[in-house]
Amino acid sequence: RRAPGRPRLSPVRLSSTGAAAQRAPGREEADSKVSSWKKTFPEVQAERLEQAQRTVLINCPAKISEKKFLKYLSHHGKINSHYFYESYGTYAVVEFSEKDSIASLQDITRTPGIEEECAVPFKSRLFTLTLKNSSIQAADQAPVHCHKQSTILVNDLVQKLCSADSVSNQLYTLMDEYQLTEENTKLRFLACSLIQEIACAYFPECTVKPFGSSVNTFGKLGCDLDMFLDLDEIERSPTRTKTGPFYMEYQMKRVPSQRIASQRILSVIGDCIDNFGPGCVGVQKILNARCPLVRFSHQPTGFQCDLTTNNRVAMRSSELLYIYGSLDSRVRALVFSVRCWARAHGITSTIPGPWITNFSLTMMALFFLQKRTPPIIPTLDQLKDLADAEDKHIVEGHDCTFASNVNKIKPTENTETLDVLLSDFFEYFGNFAFNKNSINIRKGKEQNKPEPSPLYIQNPFEQALNISKNVNQSQLDRFVALARECAWILQQEDKGHSSLSNSQPWGLAALLLPSVASNCVKGKKRRKGPTSERIKSLLDSLKINNANSLVNNGGK
Ligand code: GTP
Ligand code: MG
Repeated sequence: RRAPGRPRLSPVRLSSTGAAAQRAPGREEADSKVSSWKKTFPEVQAERLEQAQRTVLINCPAKISEKKFLKYLSHHGKINSHYFYESYGTYAVVEFSEKDSIASLQDITRTPGIEEECAVPFKSRLFTLTLKNSSIQAADQAPVHCHKQSTILVNDLVQKLCSADSVSNQLYTLMDEYQLTEENTKLRFLACSLIQEIACAYFPECTVKPFGSSVNTFGKLGCDLDMFLDLDEIERSPTRTKTGPFYMEYQMKRVPSQRIASQRILSVIGDCIDNFGPGCVGVQKILNARCPLVRFSHQPTGFQCDLTTNNRVAMRSSELLYIYGSLDSRVRALVFSVRCWARAHGITSTIPGPWITNFSLTMMALFFLQKRTPPIIPTLDQLKDLADAEDKHIVEGHDCTFASNVNKIKPTENTETLDVLLSDFFEYFGNFAFNKNSINIRKGKEQNKPEPSPLYIQNPFEQALNISKNVNQSQLDRFVALARECAWILQQEDKGHSSLSNSQPWGLAALLLPSVASNCVKGKKRRKGPTSERIKSLLDSLKINNANSLVNNGGK
């Protein structure tokens, strides 16, 4: 158990974002100067998308000789990397060194002979490998080693946290357990690339890219996969030739608005995914949301996917969060812990409704870090001042300009420990004047609320919008009460007055226990128990109209 009393200052842990998306295989050990160079978001995206194009996904028996498997596949070309995982069976992700290897593998692959059903003849990079003589071939074979694709259970996490030696290290432990692994990140890009193949049937130059928490450095194992169908390459016009007396233009179908175009495109792509997409199930077209989307489950990878198009602002938000997450290791550690805490107490939910979202929570944590003295991260306006000409981005009239090169941003001189930051985060939001102030990461300052929503977090790019418009007063009150309770618990421990005995969870682990939620209603009113609390929340959610409940989807 750690000694009571936290140091206020400590050397900041080296800013290794730890995110799989940040690692540069083969480059990091080469030279410490080079290894501290952080790639820009577009560089990471381009590299991983290209890698995904050279990768195949193979359903195979769990008991298989890895050596023979690799030898068999290497007839088609050099294999760069491979790994196995479980999702409705055992799968292998195999990355070839050249794209041509895939065509070679497809040449020897048969279409399935199904007796009672009929296979839709769509050839993809998703294969099934079977043993010619399974009883003999698998007999003495041990199952292959599978990489984990989900987080540990909360109880196991609590135990792990208890063996850390400080609250700071508890936060880093949680992040290490929860963050996306290199393998999981690769799989996310591969899933996008498989969907891109389907969309390419209509739009050969399109790209499908991940955005949101899959790539913004705050993704947790098991989080949904937000996909962006990017048609910009098709729309990009060549510079007009000065020679000759004519202009050439494509004849194209015209529709009344961009929204209608997006709905129509997603509608057909949704049908293709539903009808031809191997492993794609439960396809839902949610085209009337503020931002139309197609939701489906990709069974081979186990991802719940939300496909949108014309969503460039969300892509910029993802890049902005990537920059903040890459600047200082405390940013990610704090955000992961706050997100995990919020989920443990039902402050966030997977069901759309009047709950605070992970996106809103992240904005709150970033705002808090901008308010430290000295600030730990810059404001969005400061990032805009650092922008080069090529960083300029105006999306549908919204200024989305900010410096994309993390290496250009001066590191903070703030050396506060995460012990202090976590406790002060709860203290800060436990006492925030939500009734009159809004949160604004562009300015890094509270501002008067322009309208009376209980929680007002200004959308950093579409500045007239509130990203937490869906949150009702009762959900905000729950957040505030829990934040106060947690600030109090951490302060008591800090003074060495912990009411908990040595064998009980402490620090961050104590904050994740269900008892925290029940304690914070004690004294105010009789405890009603978690079930009635949940029912009350659900009843509240029914009070808000349908349009409001779509805000959650609409924000994608
Ligand atoms: P998870 O809960 O881990 O999925 O976090 P996430 O950041 O991926 O959130 P989500 O899947 O709900 O949304 C994906 C992305 O859409 C976010 O990262 C944002 O860029 C954007 N987004 C989500 N909600 C809103 C919103 O209310 N307003 C706006 N403008 N963008 C949003
Ligand atoms: Mg998401």
